[in-house]
Amino acid sequence: MSASLTLTRADLIRSANFIAGLWSEGTSTRLDVTNPATGAVITSVPDSGAVEARAALDAAHAAFATWRKVPAKQRAAIIKRWNDLVLAHQDDLGALISMEQGKPLAEGKGEVTYAASYIEWFGEEATRMNGEVIPAPVSGRRMLALKEPVGVVAAITPWNFPAAMIARKIAPALAAGCTVVCKPAEDTPLTSLALVQLAHEAGVPAGVLNIVTASRQNTPAVVDVWLDDGRVRKITFTGSTPVGKHLARRSADTLKKLSLELGGNAPFIVFDDADLDAAVDGLMAAKFRNGGQTCVCPNRVFVHRSVFDAFAAKLAGKVAALKVGPASDPASQIGPMINDRAVEKIERHVQDAVAKGAKVLTGGQRLTHLGPNYYAPTVLGGADARMACACEETFGPVAPLTVFDDEAEVIAQANDTPFGLAGYFYSQNVRRIWRVADALETGIVGINEGALAAEAAPFGGVKESGYGREGSTHGLDDYLHTKYVCQGQLD
Ligand code: SIN
Repeated sequence: MSASLTLTRADLIRSANFIAGLWSEGTSTRLDVTNPATGAVITSVPDSGAVEARAALDAAHAAFATWRKVPAKQRAAIIKRWNDLVLAHQDDLGALISMEQGKPLAEGKGEVTYAASYIEWFGEEATRMNGEVIPAPVSGRRMLALKEPVGVVAAITPWNFPAAMIARKIAPALAAGCTVVCKPAEDTPLTSLALVQLAHEAGVPAGVLNIVTASRQNTPAVVDVWLDDGRVRKITFTGSTPVGKHLARRSADTLKKLSLELGGNAPFIVFDDADLDAAVDGLMAAKFRNGGQTCVCPNRVFVHRSVFDAFAAKLAGKVAALKVGPASDPASQIGPMINDRAVEKIERHVQDAVAKGAKVLTGGQRLTHLGPNYYAPTVLGGADARMACACEETFGPVAPLTVFDDEAEVIAQANDTPFGLAGYFYSQNVRRIWRVADALETGIVGINEGALAAEAAPFGGVKESGYGREGSTHGLDDYLHTKYVCQGQLD
């Protein structure tokens, strides 16, 4: 049986930029958007450049003057209507995500619920951006700390969660009273365009939310306009650490506020006192969600020597049973990787590990009979720190297992990376639990839990995984300034 990847509302597949409340083809050349499961072209979008980027910025700048003054309750009502429309179109949006990104349909629809949870939450928070009244040190004074929107925000979003990453950047921006220019990932612009159409239908005014599509080659032409222009007051970016560093350097001249959610190299530690079945389930959820294409997914799995064989056997059995296939097959649990570069990286990591002594416990090869971008879910035994898969983010369905003997040694290994996004561990010992949670140098820690992200929780990293937080009140604060107001002569 095959699941329908057609949309009830065909007009949600947009093939233009959205600038100042209008769909505009622009003057640019076109960029094909393909289905990674088949390579088939779905449609094309503008391959925009500086002209479109400037037009979007002009619109966002003009709209900021009025949007910031819209009462919070009205902004909240519009954002909540956007949430309702997103949920009402869950099937269409889920199909669109699966079509352009490749994840199984159940995951595509699940991502819509996940995205909506951020939109709803930040819609509610719009009405709670309270400032402070500060007790004055002398009489005759009133001292206040007021919250203000930072201004125009440039959002640069990734392909792995085309709906959720738009939602958790744009919903807080709109809630805060900021306006937005957005450049979605070149592989997955269609979901973002559909979300913008729904935001328009929900009543987001013209100019408040603008979106410009571009290829990887043309992205610098778009983003440089935003980086160089002092009217952009904040950049929010999810993607690689080298690009994040480039954005930070280029933003320095205009001292923009930055939220950077960058690469990870998450450790997943299974102690000898862990519930092994729970640890296997946690690793399955954290590692193989979205085919391993998540920034927080475990990249290095450390297993205590005394439980290594039992854990490896249980894990390899479950991984071997995963059904790989296109989103059009409802039984699929792992879809294609996003493109051939992604598969080549996975292949290079596995070959490098095997050449350095790792053993393939299951998987370990491309699945060319399914299509060009499929890789078998893989478990490697005997992995160690010399291997590429221990130093670089694999971003694919590969779990490399490393044996360890004691707690201090494994914490040192877990922290021996420039990255610090997420870390996971399984243990039943309450003293160890707090020792290890304190010792891990990561922005997010999962204790006996593989599914961590939630709209009310702060998501973000330390070290070279970036700074700033998404989700929670911290994720709203990143779009706000604090203005101190002091009035004297009141006696
Ligand atoms: C990411 O991969 O950057 C996001 C993952 C998540 O939201 O869980």
